[in-house]
Amino acid sequence: MTIGKIIDGKGFAATLRAQVAEGVAAFAEKTARKPGLAVVLVGEDPASSVYVRNKGKMTLAAGMESFEFKLPATIGEEELLDLIEELNADERIDGILCQLPLPKHIDEASVIAAIDPAKDVDGFHVVNAGRLATGQETLVPCTPLGCIMLLKDELGDLGGLEAVVIGRSNIVGKPMAQLLLAENCTVTIAHSRTRDIASVVHRADIVVAAVGRAEMVKGEWIKPGATVIDVGINRVVDTEDGKSRIVGDVATAEALAHVRAITPVPGGVGPMTIAVLLRNTLVAAHARAG
Ligand code: GUN
Repeated sequence: MTIGKIIDGKGFAATLRAQVAEGVAAFAEKTARKPGLAVVLVGEDPASSVYVRNKGKMTLAAGMESFEFKLPATIGEEELLDLIEELNADERIDGILCQLPLPKHIDEASVIAAIDPAKDVDGFHVVNAGRLATGQETLVPCTPLGCIMLLKDELGDLGGLEAVVIGRSNIVGKPMAQLLLAENCTVTIAHSRTRDIASVVHRADIVVAAVGRAEMVKGEWIKPGATVIDVGINRVVDTEDGKSRIVGDVATAEALAHVRAITPVPGGVGPMTIAVLLRNTLVAAHARAG
């Protein structure tokens, strides 16, 4: 039995960060200022706090300026919108990221809509989502763009391949489908209401799993030789030793017997997201510098 390849997202992300750092140095030389990224965190969700800390560190390591805003979970929507307005007007800031999810009393769509599309390094603003959907150049959501980079590195031209995206979120599933379509794939989006998901997944040359359900995608669903991108980050408690560990949306050990290549969790897509965020911030800085 052949075993598939494990895609080294961690290594790819390190290379991308090094390239961005070079680009940042060249930008600073030319413009006499560093690109700046502002990250807004509302509340103290532990997972979000870890992400935000890592983003800050990596931003500085890439040679950019990092601005962090930690706000209490009780902050009102108006106050948050005021902060976004300040960041929009701040010349030192090229990228604004407001960590999601936000507390229930704040309307996420209103907050995203308040971000200047030119500084929307998450690519969540409807203007940027619309540009992506209509094939225009734009800031693209970090996680799906990272997935496409890994896929193109592994497979080269994706044209004509059958791609199945599992999950239809605005953050991953929908932009992922748009990016695959732009690469000339035949794209299907599967979701919680999809009938016979196993047979839908089985036609795919490319499977992108982004549902947030631990090891939901079984090995036998995968067509032999398919490439699998696992976006899931799920914490599970081991019934034997009681310890918690992180697993993806795909049953990786089973899938390895079927795939051509698969991203591991952790160390696959996760590190790509921050690397692409830094890349998007540099892209936004260049666009703003004209
Ligand atoms: N929460 C989970 N993923 C993301 C992301 O890519 N961007 C933001 N802003 N929040 C998130």
